[in-house]
Amino acid sequence: MNVSLAQQRVVVLGTGGTIAGRASSAADGVGYTAAQVTVQDLLASIPAYEGLALDVEQVAQVDSKDMTLGVWQTLARRLAFHLARPDVGAVVVTHGTDTLEETAFFLQCVLDAQKPVVLTCAMRPATALVPDGPQNLVDAMVLARHPGTCGVLIVCAGRVHGAGEVAKAHTYRLDAFDSGDAGPLATVGEGLVRQFRAWPEPSGLLKPGAPAWDRVMNAHELPGVVVLTSHADADATQVNALLDHSASHPASAVRGMVVAGTGNGTVHARLEEALSRAQEQGVRVVRTTRCAAGPVIPHAGQVLTDVRQLSPVKARIALALELLGE
Ligand code: SIN
Repeated sequence: MNVSLAQQRVVVLGTGGTIAGRASSAADGVGYTAAQVTVQDLLASIPAYEGLALDVEQVAQVDSKDMTLGVWQTLARRLAFHLARPDVGAVVVTHGTDTLEETAFFLQCVLDAQKPVVLTCAMRPATALVPDGPQNLVDAMVLARHPGTCGVLIVCAGRVHGAGEVAKAHTYRLDAFDSGDAGPLATVGEGLVRQFRAWPEPSGLLKPGAPAWDRVMNAHELPGVVVLTSHADADATQVNALLDHSASHPASAVRGMVVAGTGNGTVHARLEEALSRAQEQGVRVVRTTRCAAGPVIPHAGQVLTDVRQLSPVKARIALALELLGE
């Protein structure tokens, strides 16, 4: 069945977040409770959504700081199901801002997103005097229906980011997300998309039914990977405690360590010595940077050679998925 873009349905999946948050007073922008309003109610308040061919599902209702593998699995399954429907052109996901970049990255790793998967959010609760969620939802819908769009994308405050680069960069500004040196992929406003860079290539790594997909979707937990930060006066305490834990609790052993290094991924000598000991004991150690922008450029003579051009939290997901496949 061939369905034209104009006829294609858009699916909206709700997962919670501030966009669905409620406060006791419209003036309260911080003392609210996230994940209270259903995605159906959020959409009902937006005239621009009236008359559109939509399917709406509440997949979860969480404050995204409490995101779990279980929610990711449910979301990925529902996305794979809807993306495979010939009558569906795109899926929009409402999500909290706090771990949005992690969910987007996880989805990019596991989904073959040949159609747009547009995650959107809000920095102000739905009950705010001037909430930002409705405009972000309108922009997400414009992007979702824009010809040629594909991959896992994030829309916030009129900017479109790719799952690989995006990070939450501000605690309360409405334009809270940033893509570092790469910059946004596009802007969206007044119903128009202005594209600056190519949409992300769908990774196509995992397809429903393939062994890797089943392994991720059926896992009870991801392999234990921790994120450590190098800083002034850092020492071996955390690494030693983790190695001790692994020795006494093999079932929950730490299998990977991501170190967020200083500057170009450098690591305090005391922490580096401990990490190289962990590496010798079979723990996978990868190095990235605690800097908000810029790659880590590897060079000869370094003790920890597995360098990732990813933020520490995304490097954690990438390593955990790799370990799951081993
Ligand atoms: C959350 O991440 O669920 C709460 C914070 C937010 O959405 O801004």
